[in-house]
Amino acid sequence: MLIKKAEDIRSSEITPKSVYLNRRKFLAGAALAGAAAATGIGLREIISPSATALAGNKINGIQKSPLSTTETVTPYKDVTNYNNYYEFSTEKDEPAKLAQKFRTRPWKVKIDGLVDKKQELDVDAIIKMAPPEERIYRHRCVEGWSIVVPWVGFSLSEVIKRVNPTSKAKFVEFTTILDKTQMPGQQRNVLEWPYVEGLRMDEAMHPLALLCFGMYGEDLPNQDGAPIRIIVPWKYGFKSAKAIVHIRFTDKQPLNTWNISAPMEYGFYSNVNPNVDHPRWSQAKERRLGEFSKRPTLMFNGYDQVASLYSGMDLKKNF
Ligand code: MTE
Repeated sequence: MLIKKAEDIRSSEITPKSVYLNRRKFLAGAALAGAAAATGIGLREIISPSATALAGNKINGIQKSPLSTTETVTPYKDVTNYNNYYEFSTEKDEPAKLAQKFRTRPWKVKIDGLVDKKQELDVDAIIKMAPPEERIYRHRCVEGWSIVVPWVGFSLSEVIKRVNPTSKAKFVEFTTILDKTQMPGQQRNVLEWPYVEGLRMDEAMHPLALLCFGMYGEDLPNQDGAPIRIIVPWKYGFKSAKAIVHIRFTDKQPLNTWNISAPMEYGFYSNVNPNVDHPRWSQAKERRLGEFSKRPTLMFNGYDQVASLYSGMDLKKNF
C-alpha cells in the first residue's frame, strides 16, 4: 500500500504474486518429483497434507457456519506467507518469519468507552464467550489480491452484547498492540502506531463481522493476527485489524490508521466496491492468490446482505 521507488521494488513484487507462487510450487514440485524418483518414496507421501504442516494448536468443537462461501479455499501455505502486517514489515513475505516469536500470551483486551460494563479481559476468556464457528470468507485486499480463508471465531456482536454499549455509542474502535521491542516495523514511521481501525455500530453488530482467533481449524498464526483480530469480509482487508488489545465504544467516527496516512486513498468505510477506483488503480478486478487470471470484484465482496446498512449513502463520497 506504500508508494515505492523503483530501486525498492523486488522482482517478487513485479511478478504478480500468484504467478510467482505458482512458479515456486512448480519448482518445488519438480524438485520433489526428482527426490521421489531417487529415493523410491511415492510423491503423494511427500506432498500429503501432513507435509504442509499447520503451525498452531487444533481448536476443538468447531461448528460449520451457514455464512460460509462454497468457493475453493486458498492453500494454507499461500495465506500464511503473503501477509500485510506493517508492525513486522512492509514486505508481504516477511511477517511469517519475523512474527514467529511474537508472544501472544498472556494477552489482555481492554473494553471501555461508552459501555455499561467496562472491563479488561484475558483473551482466553473472550475466546470462550461463544462456540467457535468456521466461517469460510472471501478476503479482498485493497491492493487487488484476494484469498478464501476458513477463519475460526464467532460474531463480534457476541462480545458487544455482553458489555452493554450505552445509547450514545455510535462507533467501535479497535487498537492493535504497541510493542516496539517485538514488532520491528513499529520502529519505523511508515504508519502512525498503534494501528487503529473502526466500524459503525450497526456494521460491528452485523452477523458477518467476525471476532477471529483461528484459521484452518487451528489457532491463528502470528502473521495472521494472533491471538485475536477482526474480519470484516465485505470491506477491504485493512479494516480487519490484527492483534487487538483495546476495543473502545465512542460517539465519534474513529480516525483509522490508513485514513490518517493517506486520506484521499483510504476512507473510513472502505467497502469493497468495483465501481470506485483507488486513486492509483482500478478496483474492478482481483487476482486470487494461486490463480493466473483476474476475476471481477463483486460489490461488497459478494456479501449483498450488508447493502441495507448503506442505503441512501453515496458510496463514492463515503469510500
Ligand atoms: N492489522 C495490523 N495490526 N497491521 C496491519 O498492517 N494490515 C491489514 C489487515 N490488518 C494490517 C492489519 C491489511 S492491509 C490486510 S490486507 C489484512 O490485514 C491482511 O490480513 P492477512 O495477512 O491475514 O491476509
